[in-house]
Amino acid sequence: MKEDKAPMTARDAIEGRVAVRRFMPGPVPLDVVRDILRTASHAPSGANLQPWRVYVVAGATKAALCAQVETAHRHHAEAHAEEYPYYPDAGLEPYASRKRQFGQVFYGALGIQPDDVQGRARQTARNFRFFDAPVGMVFTIDRRLAQGSWLDYGMFLQNVMLAARACGLDTCPQVSIARFHKVLRCCLAIPDDELVLCGMSLGYADTSAPELAIRQSRLPVDAFASFQGFDAAAA
Ligand SMILES: Cc1cc2nc3c(=O)[nH]c(=O)nc-3n(C[C@H](O)[C@H](O)[C@H](O)COP(=O)(O)O)c2cc1C
Repeated sequence: MKEDKAPMTARDAIEGRVAVRRFMPGPVPLDVVRDILRTASHAPSGANLQPWRVYVVAGATKAALCAQVETAHRHHAEAHAEEYPYYPDAGLEPYASRKRQFGQVFYGALGIQPDDVQGRARQTARNFRFFDAPVGMVFTIDRRLAQGSWLDYGMFLQNVMLAARACGLDTCPQVSIARFHKVLRCCLAIPDDELVLCGMSLGYADTSAPELAIRQSRLPVDAFASFQGFDAAAA
């Protein structure tokens, strides 16, 4: 019998996207990944520069890459550093409070107590296996490009996540893996003139994951937008 399911709207995809950190083991076919990236490449970019470059890994290649990154993380993490600052200085408000709130909600859903340093570290380490997703992606940018291209890049990344939703797949963007860019560079033959921005897990969500029962909150519109020049009568 034909399934009578309404197609996913853009709003469904945007509001239904969450960072998924637990995946089913089943593979994602290469043509589906290609299709997601092709759709995502419709992202706008200033003068159509299209600054994105993606390294996609699966199967034994992903396993070998993750083994190297996990070894680096476990044994000499201090020898590795991000190529660019992603987070602001610790303590900068209101962002420090928002980060704290994220941690409370996320680790709370996992049953990891605030003082359980090892529990948090174990969860963090799952980043370096792409959360056991069948597909891992590493995103790089030509380091000669200007800040504007980073703006474009964000739109591409969001498109990847939304296109994945349209294919019934889920994602987790991951800046944490960028710290190990030297390992990624070596394993994936990433040239020195490319800067590693972030990674992303891609796969079919394990819907039994307890953290999927929670949602990270968003500020109300009036907390980040101001409106001027609207006709009061029409409002
Ligand atoms: C560029 C970027 C990098 C991120 N890096 C990580 C990461 O390294 N590990 C992780 O678990 N989540 C990471 N996240 C996911 C965020 O924590 C998540 O998007 C945020 O808490 C909002 O939750 P939601 O995406 O489920 O709505 C990242 C998100 C973005 C946009």
